[in-house]
Amino acid sequence: MKKIPLLGDITPAQFLRDYWHKKPLLIRQAIPGFKPVLPFEALAKLASENFVESRLITCFDGHWDMQHGPLAELPARERAGWTMLVQGANLVDARADALLRQFRFIPDARLDDLMISYATDGGGVGPHFDSYDVFLLQAHGKRRWKIGAQKDLTLVDGMPLKILKHFSPQEEFVLEPGDMLYLPPHYAHDGVAEGDCMTYSIGFRSPSYQELGEAFLQFMADSIDLPGRYADPDLAASSKPAEIPRHMLATVTEEMNKVRFTEEDVTIFLGEHLSEPKHNVFFTGPAKPLTAGRFAQALAKRGVALSLKTQMLYRGKHVFINGESFAVGRADKLMLDTLANARTLSGAALAGASDDVMEALYTWYQDGWVDLA
Ligand code: SIN
Ligand code: CO
Repeated sequence: MKKIPLLGDITPAQFLRDYWHKKPLLIRQAIPGFKPVLPFEALAKLASENFVESRLITCFDGHWDMQHGPLAELPARERAGWTMLVQGANLVDARADALLRQFRFIPDARLDDLMISYATDGGGVGPHFDSYDVFLLQAHGKRRWKIGAQKDLTLVDGMPLKILKHFSPQEEFVLEPGDMLYLPPHYAHDGVAEGDCMTYSIGFRSPSYQELGEAFLQFMADSIDLPGRYADPDLAASSKPAEIPRHMLATVTEEMNKVRFTEEDVTIFLGEHLSEPKHNVFFTGPAKPLTAGRFAQALAKRGVALSLKTQMLYRGKHVFINGESFAVGRADKLMLDTLANARTLSGAALAGASDDVMEALYTWYQDGWVDLA
């Protein structure tokens, strides 16, 4: 794989081999001349919306506080020591989405979102660690990062946010616009604004096995098939009527052991689970949708693009979009896999689309999952 500007002198393969999950990497001028995709006012407006996840973190007079959005009011910009964090900027802004997509040398199944932080002088979220990998791209102003590989990740009790009890940084860098710092999971860090600044965090998702297991059992509940009903033709008279009979326990255990799942079950579960929109994501279809006929004509001219909020994945014959799955034939699959990878298909590429694909695209268009390109 070729070098990509984002990673400086190294290729994605080298990055993944030497740094990913392993050690930090500072890339000076990862994106030379980088400018914020959203000005402060637009960011503050997003933080005030209830469909956007946001937080306000203040450290006034040495006292940490955190407030969840929507944030109707912010402290004065002249006041030092506060930070506003806006999650999922990529879901609402095309340039933020384009920035996140530059990191697609890591699969969509692992990419989470672009979080934008704005901080006034001295602002930050305190020394902490995250459970996920993160790329911290400086977008505006300067931020001083102190980082360390410490093993002691004990947190201060009773705090509204995660603050390390003993922070012992080993390295320190001041990041300027366009500079980027990669940190592996559980790496201690503290970024403090020098003057007001904005930092873009490219975050990843790594679901816990507990989360996956709970969701998988719910998924399997819809598909398990256990015929028969408990019976005890040899039942003997009981002297301890409250005790669950031994025979009942043994028989039910044997029957429950018949619950089986295949890799295909896991494929469908994982695809649906990972493509499921977050709780605060809502799709809105066009106010005046075209008829199916007009849509097909427009598609041939303009092509189609996935909405910023749409997550489309595939594996084998299964295609997943926003929590739904389809098993599709070979020709349709090639086309849908291309749409999932490129997130857009030209009118020419759609020329041979089957009726099934056209029907699916029309439904997705009505639901706001895809738009005309
Ligand atoms: C920030 O942008 O202020 C916080 C990012 C982080 O430390 O994970
Ligand atoms: Co962090």
